[in-house]
Amino acid sequence: VSDPIDPAATGYPLLLDVRGRRVVVVGGGAVAARRVTGLLAGGADVLVVAPEVSSAVLDAGVALRRSPFSPSDLDGSWLAFACTDDAEVNAAVAAAAAERHVFCVRADAAGGGTARVPAVSRSDGMTVAVSGGDDPGRAVALRNAIDVGLATGQLPTRRHRRGGAGRVTLVGGGPGDPQLITVRGRQAVADADVVVVDRLAPRALLDSLSDDVEVIDSGKSAHRHNMTQQQINDVIVERARAGRHVVRLKGGDPFVFGRGGEEWLACVTAGVPVTVVPGLSSALAAPALAGIPLTHRQLAADFTVVSGHLDPGRAADQGIDWPGLAAHRGTLVVLMAMDRLHLITAELIEHGKAAGTPAAVVQNASLPGQRVVRGELADIAGRAREAGVGAPAVVVIGEVVGVLER
Ligand SMILES: C[S@@+](CC[C@H](N)C(=O)[O-])C[C@H]1O[C@@H](n2cnc3c(N)ncnc32)[C@H](O)[C@@H]1O
Repeated sequence: VSDPIDPAATGYPLLLDVRGRRVVVVGGGAVAARRVTGLLAGGADVLVVAPEVSSAVLDAGVALRRSPFSPSDLDGSWLAFACTDDAEVNAAVAAAAAERHVFCVRADAAGGGTARVPAVSRSDGMTVAVSGGDDPGRAVALRNAIDVGLATGQLPTRRHRRGGAGRVTLVGGGPGDPQLITVRGRQAVADADVVVVDRLAPRALLDSLSDDVEVIDSGKSAHRHNMTQQQINDVIVERARAGRHVVRLKGGDPFVFGRGGEEWLACVTAGVPVTVVPGLSSALAAPALAGIPLTHRQLAADFTVVSGHLDPGRAADQGIDWPGLAAHRGTLVVLMAMDRLHLITAELIEHGKAAGTPAAVVQNASLPGQRVVRGELADIAGRAREAGVGAPAVVVIGEVVGVLER
C-alpha cells in the first residue's frame, strides 16, 4: 500500500542555477565537504562558516569564515546549508534563512528546513533527481539503480530533439550474445535513430529498440550480400547528413575483418562525424568460450589471427605467408575458414606444421547453438564436416587447444 502523495509535504522540484551566486554552508565536517564539492561543480560562489574545518573543506579552496555562525553570515546569499552536528545551530541557521527569504537545507532534520537535496544521477545531458521523503537511503538506492540503467543503456534515453548535424557510431557488438557488447556500445544502440545491422551482430538487441528507430538489415554473410559495402557506406552517410544518429552495429570488433575502416573513411570523406566503439572480437571470444587460452605459459607466447577467406593456392597474391604461418610457434586463429579448411590445413602441413598439432573449430560462439569440434591439424576439417559444423566459426590451431583438458 503506497502512501498518498502529498505534493505540499514532498516539495516542489526545481533545478537551481547557482552559478556565481553566493551559497553559505554552515559547518566544516564531512557533510559540509560533500555539499561544497557539489556546489563548486555547479559553479556556486561558496562561503563556509565554521570555527573549525576539515582538510577536505580546506582543500576545496572556498571562502572561509572561521567563526561560530551568526545570522548576518547569510546576508546576500541565495541558498543556505545547515550542516553542523549541533541541532541548535542548524535550527538557528534555518531561522535566519527564513527571515531573509533564503531557502535552507538542514542536514540533521530535512523537515526543519525549506529545501531538500535529492539523490542525483547525471548522464549525457540528463539529470535525474530522486527524493525519498524522510528516507534518504531509499532515494540513494533508487538513484543507484537508475545509474546502472543509464550506464548500461537499458533505460530509454534516446534524444528526441537533436540539435545540429547527425553522426555515425561504428559499434562492435561482440560475438553475438547481447550480454557481450560493451556498456558504451549498448548506450550507443539505446541512443540510435537508425541502426544498420550485420548478420553476425547481437541482433537480440534490436528487440529493445522503439518502433520509430529505423532498422536497416545489411544482411552480410560470406556469400550473400544483401547490401554492397558501397550501399552501406552511402546509407550511413546519407542518414547522418539528415541529422540522425546512425549506429552501425557489427559483429565482433568493427576493425577486425569488419570493413569498419572503410565505413570510417566514407564518413570522414563526407564530413560526417564518426566514432568507433571497440567490440569483443570473435577471434578472442570464441577460443575463450571454448575453454582455449590463446596464450599459455610454456606453450604459446603469442597468437596470430588470419582470415581464411583466401585462396591458399594464390598466397603470394594475397600476402599470406604460409611458410611463415606454418613455422610460427604461437597459436593460429583463423576466421572465415570453413569453406576452405581442408585446403588451409593441407597447406600448413605441406609447409612443415606438424599434422598432429591440436586444433579446434568453435561455431556460433556465445550463441545458444555454440558447438566445439576438436581434433588435429590433419583431421579437423573432416571432423568438422562430419559433425555438420560450418560458418560462422573460428578455427584455433596450436598446443593450447587441449591444455585445459589435461
Ligand atoms: C566478416 S568476419 C567478422 C569478424 C568480426 N569483426 C570479429 O571481430 O569477430 C566474420 C567471421 O567472424 C567469425 N565469427 C563471428 N562471429 C562468430 C561467432 N559467434 N562464432 C564463431 N565465429 C564467429 C567467423 O569466422 C566469421 O566467418
